This record gives sequence, structure tokens and C-alpha cells, in this order.
Amino acid sequence: MKILFVCLGNICRSPLAEAIFKHKLQNKNLAQSFSADSCGTANYHVGGTPDPRTIRNARKNGVGINHLGRQLSPNDFENFDLILAMDGSNLQNILRLPGAYLQAHKIKLMRDYDPDGRGDVPDPYYGTEPDFQAVFEILDRSVDQLVTSLVKQKSNET
Ligand code: 4NP
Repeated sequence: MKILFVCLGNICRSPLAEAIFKHKLQNKNLAQSFSADSCGTANYHVGGTPDPRTIRNARKNGVGINHLGRQLSPNDFENFDLILAMDGSNLQNILRLPGAYLQAHKIKLMRDYDPDGRGDVPDPYYGTEPDFQAVFEILDRSVDQLVTSLVKQKSNET
């Protein structure tokens, strides 16, 4: 099962979601069962490393990030089983791409998995460290619920 995390620039929220997801899989010995990637709806940061503030905040929270920016492509709708948008604006941008409607059942909001509430993962790009920490905490608890849900789904399939 392949999961794709999507934000705007692919340097703050989605590479962090991917890194937290992979970190939790490692800790639970589930790395063989699921794979993940991240991308942006925009092409501003293609080939670039994540925002240094995201890298620093993730490290503070014990999570390493290893990712280079890439833009979402229509091929991703075929290649991934679940596509999670960080906010409503990115969800709209994803659904506007050719072929998206055929795969709309795979495309959801990240915070559909947040046990503490729905809505957007706020964009921290113009913010400061507390904004990056707030994003980390939203993603940490949402990804926990995501992993629980995927494991349950997988055990129902087998
Ligand atoms: P992200 O944050 O979508 O979470 O990666 C942003 C990164 C870059 C820009 C906007 C948001 N930007 O305008 O360059």
C-alpha cells in the first residue's frame, strides 16, 4: 500500500508528514507493509531540500527527514493507493488535475485522520517556530490514526 502526502511547496508540511509516517512505521516494524512519498501541487521547490525550519523542528521532535521536492503528476493517481492533501486548497488543486475524478475515492484530507478535529494543516511557511511545532503536533496525532486505520484495513483484507 502506497501513501502520498501532498502540500503546496513540498518543503514544509508534506515532507514532514512523510517523515513522521516512515518514522512510526519503523518503530512499529511495519516498514515492509507500507511505503510513502510526498509532493507539492506547485513547482516552486522541485529538486530542493525541505525548509531548514522544518528539518530543525523535526529533529527537535526526534524525526529525520530525507526528501527532495517534486511536483504532483497525474501518474501519481495510478501509482498511489491513498493521496492525502494537507489543506482544502491543495485538495481542490489535486481534484482539478486530469484523471483525478476517476481516482477521487483515493484522495482525502490529512486531518480526516485527526482525532482532535478536522480542517486544514495550516501552512507554516510565513510563520515562526511555534507554528512549525503546531504543524508537527497535528501531523503526529493524525499520522498515528492513519497508521492505525491502515493496519486495520490491511488485516481485514487478509
Ligand atoms: P508547504 O509550505 O506547502 O507546507 O511546503 C509552503 C512552502 C513554500 C511556499 C508556500 C508554502 N512558497 O510560497 O514558496
